[in-house]
Parts: sequence; structure tokens; C-alpha cells
Amino acid sequence: MKRVVVLTGAGISAESGLKTFRDSDGLWEGYDIEEVATPQAWQRNPALVQEFYNMRRKSVIEAQPNAAHYALAQLQDKFDVTIITQNIDDLHERAGSTNVVHLHGIITRSQSSLNPELTYPMEGWELGMNEVCELGSPLRPHVVWFGEPVPMIEKAAAICATADVFILIGTSLAVYPAAGLVDFIPDGVPKYIIDPNIPYVRGANSVIKIEQKATTGVPQVVSELMNQPD
Ligand code: APR
Repeated sequence: MKRVVVLTGAGISAESGLKTFRDSDGLWEGYDIEEVATPQAWQRNPALVQEFYNMRRKSVIEAQPNAAHYALAQLQDKFDVTIITQNIDDLHERAGSTNVVHLHGIITRSQSSLNPELTYPMEGWELGMNEVCELGSPLRPHVVWFGEPVPMIEKAAAICATADVFILIGTSLAVYPAAGLVDFIPDGVPKYIIDPNIPYVRGANSVIKIEQKATTGVPQVVSELMNQPD
């Protein structure tokens, strides 16, 4: 089976009603990264950080996967598919994708503020200030903040190195180390980029640009791949 590696960003969930970060009405227009998405923010004002992620968790739970998430799940019928996502939503899983690597964590789980390896499933959308992990330290959202290591990055890079086909969807490639993953895709491997605002990716000859929204562009690429001879 050919291996398809997909790297997704906030753009794939935009049409599910979840805001991107750097578009004109994006999340980072309304919030200061330093105030809500850093370990320092958590030290200074944990209640504000909890509130920010509680609101985001509520939006994620209320959102539904869209045609792009479903199309990627369909690819599994013919290919060995790994989705590497920068997104903290669970829409890939809810659409049926079974092999999803969450580079920046997943909002539907909480995490010990003492040991990042201790994570827990959550019931509802609200994480309270008085909830603690098994070590007795406060629970925080299971997300990777700016300035924190990205534990899954080496695994993700190794997966990229095995790709036969690469698909990049809805990411500005502004954030490292995630953005560096495209450099691990072997030369000559076809790289489909689906985004209304195509980011720069090296390797002009193998880049196929689809300048469209995810719900239009992704089903189109998936149907092209499904109809290719083995
Ligand atoms: N379909 C496809 N792509 C879209 C759509 C859409 N409907 N709408 C917007 N986009 C594209 C934008 O053109 C842009 O290239 O999605 C991308 C969104 O970029 P960012 O907002 O920078 O999001 P992302 O790349 O996922 O951000 C990376 O930054 O703040 C951190 O941790 C956060 O994981 C996130 C990381």
C-alpha cells in the first residue's frame, strides 16, 4: 500500500466554524499569545488561560467534521494514511481517520501541570481551577504552548520521510518545528497543497497547488488519488 502523509492546520477546520489563528479574523487578532498560550501565562494568570481553552473546547465539542475531514478518512480504503495535525480539535478522528498524530496536543484531554505525560480524557468542556492530577498538581489543557517542546516532532519527521504522497492543508507554515516537517518529505514525492492562500514549499517541480478552500480542494484531490491506478 502506498503511504499518504497529510499535514493539516487550522484551515481544514475553518469551514467547521473553528477560527484559524493568523487570518484577518483569526484567534490571534483577538488574543495576545503571551497572555494565554505560554507557560508564563499559566504562572501569571492560570484562570485566564483556563477560560481561553474552556471556550475553545466548547467550540470544538459543538463543531462537526466537514467534507475535507471526511474525504481524508475515505483515503484509508486505498492507502496507508497518517495524518499529522497541528490542530487541537478532534475532527479528524470524528470523521473516521484512525491514524492521527497531534503535534500540539488535543483539547479534549487535560494534562498534569507537573508531568506532561500524564493526560486524561475529559467529560464536558469545562476544566475547573480546583481539578488536580494523580500527583495532586492542577490540571491544565493538553496543548503545547509557545516555548514548550513538541514531543511528537521526531515521530512526525520519521513518518514524513516514508511518504509516497504528501498533502498539506490549511496551514500558514508560520510555526516551527511543525513547519520544518515539509523538509523531511523525500525529493520527487508529489506534494499537494490545498489552501486559498498557498504557503511557500520548496521543490517547485513536485508541488501541486490547489488554491481552494478545504471542503472543495480536499475531496477533489482525494478523488484524484482514489482513481489513480495502483
Ligand atoms: N480551507 C483551507 N485553508 C484555509 C481555509 C479554508 N477554508 N481558511 C483559511 N485557510 C488557511 C489560511 O490561508 C492559512 O494558510 O489556513 C491557514 C491558517 O493558518 P494559521 O492561522 O497560521 O494556522 P496554523 O498554520 O494551523 O497555525 C499553526 O500556530 O498558534 C499556533 O498552535 C497553533 O497549531 C497552531 C499553529
